[in-house]
Amino acid sequence: MNYKVYNQSCIEGMREHVKDDSIDLIFTDPPYGIDGDGLDVHYHRDESTVVPGYVDVPLDQYKEFSLNWIRECERVLRPGGSIYIVSGYTNLHHILNALHETDLEEVNHLIAKYTFGVNATKKWISSHYHILFWQKPDKGSQKRTFNHLYKWFDNKDSYNDRLSVQDMPRDYKPGQIKNKNQLSEDFIEKFIMYSSNRGDTVLDCFGGGFTTARTALRYGRKFVGFELNKNAYDAFVPGLADVEILPDPEKITVDPVELAKRQRMREGWRKDRAKRKQQTSPNLFE
Ligand SMILES: C[S@@+](CC[C@H](N)C(=O)[O-])C[C@H]1O[C@@H](n2cnc3c(N)ncnc32)[C@H](O)[C@@H]1O
Repeated sequence: MNYKVYNQSCIEGMREHVKDDSIDLIFTDPPYGIDGDGLDVHYHRDESTVVPGYVDVPLDQYKEFSLNWIRECERVLRPGGSIYIVSGYTNLHHILNALHETDLEEVNHLIAKYTFGVNATKKWISSHYHILFWQKPDKGSQKRTFNHLYKWFDNKDSYNDRLSVQDMPRDYKPGQIKNKNQLSEDFIEKFIMYSSNRGDTVLDCFGGGFTTARTALRYGRKFVGFELNKNAYDAFVPGLADVEILPDPEKITVDPVELAKRQRMREGWRKDRAKRKQQTSPNLFE
């Protein structure tokens, strides 16, 4: 079996089941501490296909809760292991403060832009999540994985794919049973592919619809995860056995005309630099 999942709180669950330094990548999307189970009232969403029982965390416990689960993540990550945390803005400060209490190191702060924000007339419309990318410090040969060319032959295309503002697609399939706030697998795929290798172990503390699990398993990773809501656990865990394991994506070749154009441009820059080096800097006082 290439996955282990538990219907229990991730804090106790990690303590009980996950060894120190054993996880290569954590991708997780904690409850936001904003009464998540009542969100549909604001979003005017049809909740008839949403699994009931989403567990949120009371605001007055959010700070301690964040510290507890993030400390466990620090313990279980291998040296050089990566963690991505998805957060709204309301309680972002608690998550950032908790991360700063650990020895984890910040790598990037990404913004995921979505187009399903609630309309508002007296203020701006919220249309982004924060994605915090941190790592456990490297140790010897155990370093952070970052496959910057996992699907490209050329840095330029990978550059465009790796901008710190990312689009977050909505995963809408009519009639499909889903978790509240379920993320899109296409969105998660990118983080799994850049930040882990086949055979690595991926962990999600807050499984929800087990989207991280399906994505990780699909690309030959192992998976460990937790979900406190029994309804969600019972609804989504059976499907993990049916995930079809796919080969790595085919690399995308750059258009030869575009590549030739870029090469000419780079050559031009190289010549300009060489020319500037040869010129002696003018003496402003002569
Ligand atoms: C934002 S949702 C995760 C959504 C998930 N990424 C997806 O794509 O479906 C957060 C989930 O954490 C669960 N949860 C809340 N507290 C938990 C805890 N202490 N341990 C494990 N799961 C918990 C909630 O029931 C909810 O399903």
